[in-house]
Amino acid sequence: MYKILAKRELAPHINLFEFSAGEVSAKTKPGQFVILRIDEDGERIPLTIADADPGKGTIAVACHGVGKTTTQLGRLKEGDFVLDLLGPLGKPARIEKFGTVLCVGGGVMVAPLHFQAKAFREAGNNVIGIVGATTRDHLIFLEEMENTCNHLLVATDDGTKGHKGMDFLKDLIKETKIDRVVAEGPVVMMKAVSDLTRQHGIPTMVNLIPIMVDGMGMCGACRVTVDGKTLFACVDGLEFDGHQVDFDELLARLKVYTPQEKLAYVFSEQGERN
Ligand SMILES: Cc1cc2nc3c(=O)[nH]c(=O)nc-3n(C[C@H](O)[C@H](O)[C@H](O)COP(=O)(O)OP(=O)(O)OC[C@H]3O[C@@H](n4cnc5c(N)ncnc54)[C@H](O)[C@@H]3O)c2cc1C
Ligand code: FES
Repeated sequence: MYKILAKRELAPHINLFEFSAGEVSAKTKPGQFVILRIDEDGERIPLTIADADPGKGTIAVACHGVGKTTTQLGRLKEGDFVLDLLGPLGKPARIEKFGTVLCVGGGVMVAPLHFQAKAFREAGNNVIGIVGATTRDHLIFLEEMENTCNHLLVATDDGTKGHKGMDFLKDLIKETKIDRVVAEGPVVMMKAVSDLTRQHGIPTMVNLIPIMVDGMGMCGACRVTVDGKTLFACVDGLEFDGHQVDFDELLARLKVYTPQEKLAYVFSEQGERN
């Protein structure tokens, strides 16, 4: 059992949880994830680790309530327990001194991106951060990214805070020498960033989160095509070369279970109300 030591609402339906998980935190590196199960009847959901403190024996994850299990997790409180926290899974992100690293995050995934941004800064890089969301109320980790990055930019799809959309990136990339880009967030955002940086030959890593089942390379659910080769995000990633990823295939595979996911949510919410 893993206790929730702290819970903080970051935005509507997005919460940051700090779990007591000594063994996981001792081995965690930025870029890795856990698979969480709330109780014996629960589904297993992957969540990227947003921080780890081996001294305290804790890890943090940010969770956006989008369906059955993430909504159930959002209802848990400080002091509650979850049954399983399996991890750390996946390979750590490659953190080295590259020079200037541009960290582009969208939505809930800004929280785990911050874990990477912190590590890049500690490795001696000049870190430029971009925090993006659909609208200003959904921007998260602004203060954390502000404190970690040498320079921070903000963007919203509707222009309610910061730049409207991501078009400003074109100028930023032209005007600034960037040695590496790391993107973590919605697939469409990572695809757009990769398409842009490809034109400028800037190495770009994206953090892929396709649908997963076992998280250990056995089931094949998280198959992705990278440079024409079949790889498995849970064991070969989560970090991949954005210039080589088949994003269209990834987008199509993410929609495969949408009808079943909607039904599971409706039934589970009916159960909550009865
Ligand atoms: C390695 C990995 C790391 C992840 N890290 C985080 C994280 O740090 N924070 C977080 O909030 N979520 C993260 N996710 C996504 C999270 O696991 C899913 O949102 C969750 O499993 C959905 O479960 P559910 O029962 O609530 O909803 P479901 O009913 O399973 O899905 C609800 C909706 O979410 C969409 N969805 C489900 N899985 C994914 C996915 N993998 N990527 C994009 N959309 C998805 C579905 O298409 C559907 O529209 C991660 C996923 C993976 C594979
Ligand atoms: S989740 Fe099963 S192979 Fe990756």
